[in-house]
Amino acid sequence: MSKLEYFKNDLHKNEDNIYILDKNDEYVDNFGKQWRDYRDVQLDSKNNFKISRDYLNEMLFYNDGILNDKTILEIGSGAGRFTEYLSKYAKECISIDLSSAIYHNVSKNKKNLKLIKADFNKLIPNKKFDIIFCRGVLQHTPNPLNSLLKIHSFVKQNGYVFFDIYKMPKIGYFHPKYIIWRPLIKTFIKYETFESFLKKRIKILLKIKRFIKILLFNSNFLSDCIMPIWDYKGKLDISKSKLEMWSIMDTLDGLYAKYDYPQSNNKIKKFLLANNIIILKNNKYINIFQTKIK
Ligand SMILES: C[S@@+](CC[C@H](N)C(=O)[O-])C[C@H]1O[C@@H](n2cnc3c(N)ncnc32)[C@H](O)[C@@H]1O
Repeated sequence: MSKLEYFKNDLHKNEDNIYILDKNDEYVDNFGKQWRDYRDVQLDSKNNFKISRDYLNEMLFYNDGILNDKTILEIGSGAGRFTEYLSKYAKECISIDLSSAIYHNVSKNKKNLKLIKADFNKLIPNKKFDIIFCRGVLQHTPNPLNSLLKIHSFVKQNGYVFFDIYKMPKIGYFHPKYIIWRPLIKTFIKYETFESFLKKRIKILLKIKRFIKILLFNSNFLSDCIMPIWDYKGKLDISKSKLEMWSIMDTLDGLYAKYDYPQSNNKIKKFLLANNIIILKNNKYINIFQTKIK
C-alpha cells in the first residue's frame, strides 16, 4: 500500500506508477471503453487543432496564467485532453478518474503528474490544492450536488475551483434523450453492438440528421429530439472524417452514461450560496463556474 500526501486513503501503486483505490470501473465502464478506443479524438497533441486548448481557456475564464506553478487536482480526466495543459503549467498535477481511462491518459509519463484511479467521492483530503479542475463530470455522478460539495473539500482557503455541469434542457427530463432514446437504446442494445452500427453507418446517419435539421428550420434542439446522433458540423472546424469520429464518440458518450443529471444554472447558484461557496465567475450559457470557499 502507498499513500499520496494529498489524501488520507491507502492506495495501491501499480507497475506504471498509477495509484489505485477502485480496481473496477463501477458505474463508468462506458467511459473506460470510450477513452480506450477513442483516446486521440479530442487531443490537440494528436490532431492539428487547438480545440481543447480553447475550451480550457473558456473554462478558466480566459485566465490560463492562473495555472502557473500551482498544485492542481483534475477530477474526471478521461483521456487527458486537459491533462496535457494542466500538467504543462502546474508545479504538480494530480489527475483522477474512476474508469480505466486513467491507464490511457495521454500525459501518463510526465514527471509532475500523478494519476489516481478512484471515485473522487471516496477520497479523503489531507493536503489541499491551489486549483481544482472538473469538466464534464459532475452530471455523471450519482448525486451531482454532493459531488459539488466534495470537490470544494479539496481546495485551499485561497485557492480556486473551476467546474462545469451540463445544463438542464429547456424541457427538462421530457427531452426525448431522457425519456425515449437513452432508456430504449441502453436497455435493448449493447454498447459494442451500437458502436459497431455507428461505425458502419455514421456517414448516412449524419446525412439524415442534417436533412432533418434543414426541415426543422435549422434547429439543433428539434433535430436532436428526433435523432440522437451528435453532430459538430458548423461548430468545429475539422475534416469530415474527424467530424465522424467526434460524432461516434459523443453519441456513445451521450447515450451510455449510467448517470446523467444536468442542472439549471439557478439551482447551482442557489446551492453554492446556501453552502457558503463564493461564485467569482459564471458563464450561465454553458454552466461554467469559478468559485472559492469562504
Ligand atoms: C464526459 S467524461 C469527461 C472527461 C474529461 N474531463 C473531458 O472533458 O474530456 C467524464 C469522466 O468523468 C469520470 N468520472 C465520472 N464519475 C467519476 C467519479 N466519481 N470519480 C472519478 N471520475 C469519475 C468518467 O470516468 C469520465 O472519464
